[in-house]
Amino acid sequence: MCGITGFTGKGTALPVLMQGLEKLEYRGYDSAGVTLADDQGLRTFKAKGRLSELRSIVENRELHQHTGIGHTRWATHGVPNNLNAHPHTNSTNTISLVHNGIIENYVSLKQMLENNGYVFQSETDSEAVVHLIDYYYRRFQDMETAFKRAVRDLEGSYGLCVISTYAPDTVFVARKESPMILGISDEGTYCASDAPALLEYTRKLMTLNDGDIAVLKPEHIALFDAKGNEKKEEWMEFPYDLQSAQKGGYDTFMEKEIHEQPQTIRETMRGRIEGKSIVLPELDPILGRILRADHVLWIACGTAYHACVYGQMVLNRLVPINSAAIPASEFRYGNYYVDKNTLCIFVSQSGETADTLAAIKRAKSSGAATIAVANVLGSSLTRIADATVYTCAGLEIAVASTKAYTAQLTLIYLLAQKLAEIMGYSTREHDEIITYLNELDRLTQETIDIAKPVIREYASMLKNEHDVYFIGRQLDYVSAMEGALKLKEISYIHADAYYAGELKHGPIALIQDQTVVIAFATQPEVASKTISNIKETVARGAKIILITDQNTPAEGFTYVIRIPEIRPDLACIISAVIFQFLAYYAASERGCDIDKPRNLAKSVTVE
Ligand code: G6P
Repeated sequence: MCGITGFTGKGTALPVLMQGLEKLEYRGYDSAGVTLADDQGLRTFKAKGRLSELRSIVENRELHQHTGIGHTRWATHGVPNNLNAHPHTNSTNTISLVHNGIIENYVSLKQMLENNGYVFQSETDSEAVVHLIDYYYRRFQDMETAFKRAVRDLEGSYGLCVISTYAPDTVFVARKESPMILGISDEGTYCASDAPALLEYTRKLMTLNDGDIAVLKPEHIALFDAKGNEKKEEWMEFPYDLQSAQKGGYDTFMEKEIHEQPQTIRETMRGRIEGKSIVLPELDPILGRILRADHVLWIACGTAYHACVYGQMVLNRLVPINSAAIPASEFRYGNYYVDKNTLCIFVSQSGETADTLAAIKRAKSSGAATIAVANVLGSSLTRIADATVYTCAGLEIAVASTKAYTAQLTLIYLLAQKLAEIMGYSTREHDEIITYLNELDRLTQETIDIAKPVIREYASMLKNEHDVYFIGRQLDYVSAMEGALKLKEISYIHADAYYAGELKHGPIALIQDQTVVIAFATQPEVASKTISNIKETVARGAKIILITDQNTPAEGFTYVIRIPEIRPDLACIISAVIFQFLAYYAASERGCDIDKPRNLAKSVTVE
C-alpha cells in the first residue's frame, strides 16, 4: 500500500527520499509527494500519478535541505489528486505529515479541530493529524511533546512521519498496525514503511514496535513506548542485500521471482529435513497445545489464502480432525467457533496484512493456539503468534506473489506432516515423502525447463480473451484458484476457477466456441473424472490448455504440459510455475505493467 520515507542527516534529503519511494513503488500508489525542512521553512511538492511526475517537478530546483519526508499514496479516503496526496501541512506551513493507515476517529477529531478554527483542505483522514499536532504545539510549545500527545488521541492504524520548522533537523515517527522500519548510517537516520527503501543507504535496521514512537536526529534515534518510557534500540543487520531489490537482468521483478523458485524452495527446506525426519523446532513451545487441538483453521488473504486451502487439504488427508481454510477478512467478523482447543495457522508473506492481523488477534482472544507462516522477519504477525515458521523466499517485490506462494506451499506441506506426527498419526508413505521433498527444487527447475519453451505460444492464445476458466479437482483446484488469480491480477483478463465436477451445475453455460479452459489433472485418483469434465467443455467448443502428470491419457488435446514425476500431493508446488508463466506472458503480450498492476498493492495494511 502507501509508502513512506523519511531522512535527517548530513547529506541532502531529496535523493534519499525519491530513491526510497522508487523502491517502494511496487507496493502500489496513485499519487506521491515530499516535504523538505530547514530553518527557512517547509517546501512541499506533490503530484498525482507516477513518481516520474513528482520527479519532473523537483528536478532542476535548488533543494539541498537535510531533513525530509516522502510518501506514495494509495487512495482510501478521497480520490487520488494533489489535494489528497501527502504530505499534509498545517495552515501556517510549519508542520508536515505523511501517514499510512486509517484514522478511525478522524470525524470526531475533525469536528473538534473545526470548532477550534482549523480549516481542512483535503478529504483525507490524515489531515486531521497534522492539525491535531498543531493544536497541541500551540498548547505545549514543544514539537516532541505535541507529537506524542497527538498520537495518544489517535484511533485506528497509522505509520506516521512528521517534520516541522520548530525542530528542523528532526523526524518524528509513530506506528500502530502499519509497518515502519528505522535505519541508521554514518550519513544520518532513516525511516520507511518497508526495508527496500533503505537498503541502498544502510542494512543496519530495526522494526519500530507497534505503539512505539521514534524521534530521529541526524546522529541518533530516541525510542519511546506507548507510555512514554524511553527504550533501547535493537538494531539488526538486514539479511538481504540490494541485489535482492534489483531485477538482475530480468525485465521485471515477477519474471525474476518466478525463476528464483527452485532456489527459494531449497532455502525454505534448508535445515528442515534431517535424515528421514522433518524438524520444526519452532513448534516446540506449543507442542502440548497442538496435541490437544481438535480442529485446525488456516487463515489468510489472497494468494496466502490459496496456500491455506492447500494446507487444509493436505492435513485432512493425514489426520482425522476437521481442518478448514477461511479468508482472514471473513474470519475476523464471522461466527467461526474458536476455543482453546483450536489451532489457528496464519499465512502471510508480509506479516503485515491488516485483515490477517485482526484475525490472529481474534483467535488469540478466544484462546486458540496460533502459528504464523510468514516471510518477513520480525513482521507484526510473527510478534503476535505463539510460534512462527518462516518461509525463506527472500524479498518479493512484484505485487503478484510467485516465489512466496511456492515457499508457503512447501513449508505448509512440511508443517502438515509435522502436525500429523505430533498428533500421533503416522503415514506409511513417510520415506517416499522425504525422497520427493529432497527433490522438490530440482523438479521445480525441471518444470520451468519443460514449460518455458511452449508457454509463450499458449499465452498468446489468451491475449485477446475476455474470460478464461481454470478447472481442477481436489488439490488441482488450489492450482485453478491461484492460476485464475495470477491471470486476472496482472493481465486484467477475467478469470474464474471452478471445481471440475461443479462445471455442469452452472459454469458450463458460459462455455462457447473457442472459450479457453485451463485444466489441471495431476491427481491420479480423480484425473479420469477431470478429463471427462474437460471433454464436456470441448464438446461445447472450448479450447483446452491441459496441465497433467506423466500418466494421464491426454489423446486429442493439442496444448498439453506434463509435469515431471512427483507425488500427487506435491504436484501443486511444481505446477505453479506453469500458470505463473502463462499469466506473465499473457500480461506481457497485452502490454501490462506487470510488477505494478492497477489498483493492487503488495501489502494491504488497511482493512
Ligand atoms: C495483497 C497482495 C497479494 C497477497 C495478499 C496477502 O493482495 O497483492 O499478493 O497474497 O495481499 O498478503 P500477505 O502479505 O498477507 O501474504
